[in-house]
Amino acid sequence: MTDYKRTLITSALPYANGPVHIGHLAGVYVPADIYARFLRLNGEEVAFIGGSDEHGVPITLKAKNEGVTPQDVVDKYHAIIKDSFARFGISFDVYSRTSAKVHHETASEFFRKLYDNGKFIEKSSEQYYDEENNQFLADRYITGTCPKCGFERAYGDQCESCGTSLSPTELINPKSMISGNSPVLKETKHWYLPLDQYEEWLKEWILEGHKEWKSNVYGQCKSWIDSGLQPRAVTRDLEWGVPVPVDGADGKVLYVWFDAPIGYISATKELTPEWEKWWKDPETKMVHFIGKDNIVFHCIIFPAMLKAEGSYILPDNVPANEFLNLEGDKISTSRNWAVWLHEYLDEFPGKEDVLKYVLTANAPETKDNDFTWKDFQARNNNELVAILGNFVNRALVLTNKYYDGKIPAPGELNDNDRTTLAEIANLKAEVEKSIRQYRFREALKLAMDLARLGNKYLTDEEPWKVVKTDPERVKTSMYVCAQITANLTIMLEPFLPFSMEKLRGFLNLGKLPWSELGRTDLLPAGHQVNTPELLFEKIEDEVIEKQVNKLLETKRANEAANAKVTPAKDNISYDEFSKMDIRTGTVLEAELVPKTKKLMKLKIDTGIDKRTVVSGIAEYFKPEDVVGRQVCILVNLEPKPLKGIESQGMILMAQDADGSLKFVTPTTPVKNGSEVK
Ligand code: MF3
Ligand code: ZN
Repeated sequence: MTDYKRTLITSALPYANGPVHIGHLAGVYVPADIYARFLRLNGEEVAFIGGSDEHGVPITLKAKNEGVTPQDVVDKYHAIIKDSFARFGISFDVYSRTSAKVHHETASEFFRKLYDNGKFIEKSSEQYYDEENNQFLADRYITGTCPKCGFERAYGDQCESCGTSLSPTELINPKSMISGNSPVLKETKHWYLPLDQYEEWLKEWILEGHKEWKSNVYGQCKSWIDSGLQPRAVTRDLEWGVPVPVDGADGKVLYVWFDAPIGYISATKELTPEWEKWWKDPETKMVHFIGKDNIVFHCIIFPAMLKAEGSYILPDNVPANEFLNLEGDKISTSRNWAVWLHEYLDEFPGKEDVLKYVLTANAPETKDNDFTWKDFQARNNNELVAILGNFVNRALVLTNKYYDGKIPAPGELNDNDRTTLAEIANLKAEVEKSIRQYRFREALKLAMDLARLGNKYLTDEEPWKVVKTDPERVKTSMYVCAQITANLTIMLEPFLPFSMEKLRGFLNLGKLPWSELGRTDLLPAGHQVNTPELLFEKIEDEVIEKQVNKLLETKRANEAANAKVTPAKDNISYDEFSKMDIRTGTVLEAELVPKTKKLMKLKIDTGIDKRTVVSGIAEYFKPEDVVGRQVCILVNLEPKPLKGIESQGMILMAQDADGSLKFVTPTTPVKNGSEVK
């Protein structure tokens, strides 16, 4: 049935300039993991490759902003990413990184071979240069207005608003990202891969040969190829990256999109000395799991590189996904608009499979989709708990109650028993077909149909009623339920690996291969099962509210960060300033002023005296939060009656962009009455 010997599964190497979020997971790692787990369960030979992409401009910019080295940045995020993948149960056979020695060597050699065989064009051209920093401005080092859509913060390689891929010289009104200056043009030499020479071959290979690829992938390839391919620079004037391994290339490195996909090869070398069988044997099936922004690189540029090299296989399929949004907005690392994997794992311990389930059930396979916490809760409560958990629990609880956990011997099967059991094999075939066609959400839905089938069977059979009239019949029903439960451990293993391990524990059953799925005697009569715990727990509203509030807080912070600062007032003399007598004091008492929303009456120890101040802070603080706090107070402000209370001074507050007030307080406590100058 299979026309290949082994499957090489690659998953896009995430940039090590931030942690991994649900968008990465839904688009790439969860489907790749399901595919890898399924094939392994089916006894097939698999290598599942992952690693961090540690080069590229965003990493160097982040390092600059934080005053650390690029290596510091990638060390930090590589560790976070690798650890969170492991905890989440993404079953990589190797998780490598592109700053590794083996990668530098592999990428270098690859470039060198193409260079030696005359596969590149060498070309000098004028490129933007920042004279203040003595640096060429490639890719994301330069920003300006998109010539296509007018977006003002497009980058030198791409407009993130309309998605068009750009080159720096196309930007209108370009500015250096380092200095903000307008750049000058300066001559520099680079190496180009002449993609135009691969156009005919790509037409043949993809447009003719891979009509079975997903329509979003095929469509993007077609539009790239139809609009004519241009030579593409594969080197850059940068310091961070794999140095260009030829003479006269000082200060130049390989373009990140040249070296990163070679990272799949380096990682395979790290995994096994037999790496060549994975990359050079035509009986290896290679599949690239990626997000839609990576399509051109994996379907056109990397294949052209592999073709130019000559000894490598090409991908059999590239099942790219669309994007996952979060609560209606595009996920963004820089705006912190994301659900971060490492935070999820900390906040939802033991619920790894819940996230996998939700991201698969709602996977952006054919269009962009939206993740909402409400949907997360609903899928957990209404599907995992109410369908899967409920069936398994009823089957096991009744088996324990009626037979002390020993699977009963069945009597003669009736029609309902037989059709129910026969349905397992049908579902198996359908799930398998969907997985092999990279339709994971459909596959999961079908796999869950087995639990739905179990519930329906229990509802039809009503063993809790029949037990009173025909206990023999109940033995058969419970035997059938046991077989469904055992089959679930196989059927759902690729999707919910932690939960199925737990379920096997309840059943006292080992891990079974996919080929056993469909058998109706997996738990023989007399087999002892354990008392079950709950497989999934209900998620309460408070838990979801907490997450929604966290996102609201992020929105607020972003809005505040973007808000304009009020311009400065006119100058005053030092004399005018020194007339103000500002002191530190401590709040002794606080109470709301009745019939007002904003006012609070405070008693302050100013060091000079104890006095009353009426302050407009009641919208933002409760009296009990204020008592004991050290504040700064203008003590020589003319007293003024407010709501019948004489206010003797003014507390200094900072007003944030959203209008909220924050106390101005010494960073460490000082003596009351200290002068603020
Ligand atoms: N780092 C890239 C991204 O996140 C993906 C690189 S995939 C590789 O978009 F093939 F280049 F490794
Ligand atoms: Zn644009």
